[in-house]
Amino acid sequence: MRNKTNKIAVMASGKGSNLAVILNAIEKGECAADVEVVICDKPNAGALAIAQDAGVPHVLFMNPKEYNSREAFDVACAEVIQKAGCQLIVLAGYMRILSPAFIQMFPEQIINIHPSLLPAFKGADAVGDALKAGVKVSGCTVHMVSEELDSGKILAQACVPVLEDDDWHSLHARIQEQEHKLYPQVVHQLVL
Ligand code: GRF
Repeated sequence: MRNKTNKIAVMASGKGSNLAVILNAIEKGECAADVEVVICDKPNAGALAIAQDAGVPHVLFMNPKEYNSREAFDVACAEVIQKAGCQLIVLAGYMRILSPAFIQMFPEQIINIHPSLLPAFKGADAVGDALKAGVKVSGCTVHMVSEELDSGKILAQACVPVLEDDDWHSLHARIQEQEHKLYPQVVHQLVL
């Protein structure tokens, strides 16, 4: 049984809208988590500014190029996360594949949000792949991270229709509306 804490770490590579909604939900008292650490692997990630503006205690750009291997980079991230006392790691648009060593350090403690109804459309372009396949329904999935990509235990899902005239951006925007409702709720449930 793990020692419960509401401190979480968020790892992000992109614009950070999921980080922003988690921080908003915390601010509004709708999510009991405490974002203690935000790690970005891209210097221009919007998530960095969002975290700084919200006063997250540890906001770090970690540069993968400064490490000899994927594992060395991941271990450095893990040390920051452990030192800060976080026991839940929330991937929010984090575009690096985590090494098995990192995943084994945090069993059942890493979650991800993926823009499809898993197990459909695993991988880097779930939105494009759903459009290509011509599905009429897609959505998002919050899942535990396991060593196999996009394959861990499914925690929650929400669906959206795929419309005839959808392009990547319109479908992704509709999926993100659902992500923004679902992710703060799941984080809240996990830190309770
Ligand atoms: C989301 O669509 C999520 O499903 C995927 O990456 C995107 C991140 O968006 N894993 P944002 O950076 O949180 O806006």
